[in-house]
Amino acid sequence: MTGDRDDTENEARDSPGDPLRYATAYHAPVLCKTVVKGLVTDRAGLYVDGTLGGGGHSAALLDALAPEGKVIGIDQDAEALAAAEARLAGEMERGRFSTLHGNFGDLQRLLEKAGLDVIDGLLLDLGLSSHQLDVAERGFSFMAEGPLDMRMDARGGVSAEAIVNQWSEHELRQLFYEYGEEPRAAKITRALLAARPIETTAALADAIRSAVPTRDEVKTLSRSFQALRIAVNAELERLEQALHAGLAVLRPGGRMAVISYHSLEDRRVKRFFRYGNLRGEPVRDFYGNLITPWRDLTRKPIAPGEDEIAANPRARSARLRLAERVEGPERDS
Ligand SMILES: C[S@@+](CC[C@H](N)C(=O)[O-])C[C@H]1O[C@@H](n2cnc3c(N)ncnc32)[C@H](O)[C@@H]1O
Repeated sequence: MTGDRDDTENEARDSPGDPLRYATAYHAPVLCKTVVKGLVTDRAGLYVDGTLGGGGHSAALLDALAPEGKVIGIDQDAEALAAAEARLAGEMERGRFSTLHGNFGDLQRLLEKAGLDVIDGLLLDLGLSSHQLDVAERGFSFMAEGPLDMRMDARGGVSAEAIVNQWSEHELRQLFYEYGEEPRAAKITRALLAARPIETTAALADAIRSAVPTRDEVKTLSRSFQALRIAVNAELERLEQALHAGLAVLRPGGRMAVISYHSLEDRRVKRFFRYGNLRGEPVRDFYGNLITPWRDLTRKPIAPGEDEIAANPRARSARLRLAERVEGPERDS
């Protein structure tokens, strides 16, 4: 992993023994207890889990809420919705849990369609579930042979195969450089062009391996696959839309929690929670006080503790940030 990781807080993590409480074979939710504690301000409130996955965080939220508290789970992946709906069937029957199939970037539209405009909390646990990564047919992993797909929403959009085989040298180089923060972007791109047509994850991995020394293979493969995945799913654009949408739908005093897994995501969340904009530019009043719609609750992101990482190594790069919507423009002196 790259980026701004030096300012990680060492407190407020899940306590030992807890980390796998809500884990299933589908996915082990990260920082579960910390997320619930940080997000819930009204136990009878309405919370949106924008990245439902296997429903681990939703299950933990429902356990923490009062009987009249509700959770709506959103995912763009139909397999995730089916898994979470099966897991939380009882809560669905009780009317405490419901799902929406769609992209969290369209949060406001999805909620409007469901007849809702204000919520008490929003969770985004970004990236992929373990299930998505583990199923070779989804094409996300360089460890297993599968089609070059990488679409989280299988209903449409452009696959990784189209990008790898059709994009120009310049476009691919930019993709690996910007989304993978990959210093060997040019070399990797040349290797891909020479290997075209590339149809499987294994063929893509072989082409990338041919461009880097063995000692850097795994890091480079991770970054390159990540870069493609980000482009296929427009992940950064969707995150930016969701941050703005969250601001629009949260009631004053409501909170947003975002777990990011790399610095491209975390940087955007950090800026938005600190300044209320994605440029990272402070807006000040006449007296020089910061005007922002948020109370930033995590100046430093929260990372999983050693116990959680030992129990769930995929939690290693997770970083949680929390912010509270304030009534009007806030003065922060
Ligand atoms: C890390 S997993 C979430 C796991 C979940 N917190 C749990 O406890 O099982 C991320 C999930 O978010 C979904 N996802 C990612 N980006 C999305 C987006 N833009 N809109 C909707 N769902 C998205 C993925 O399909 C995946 O199921």
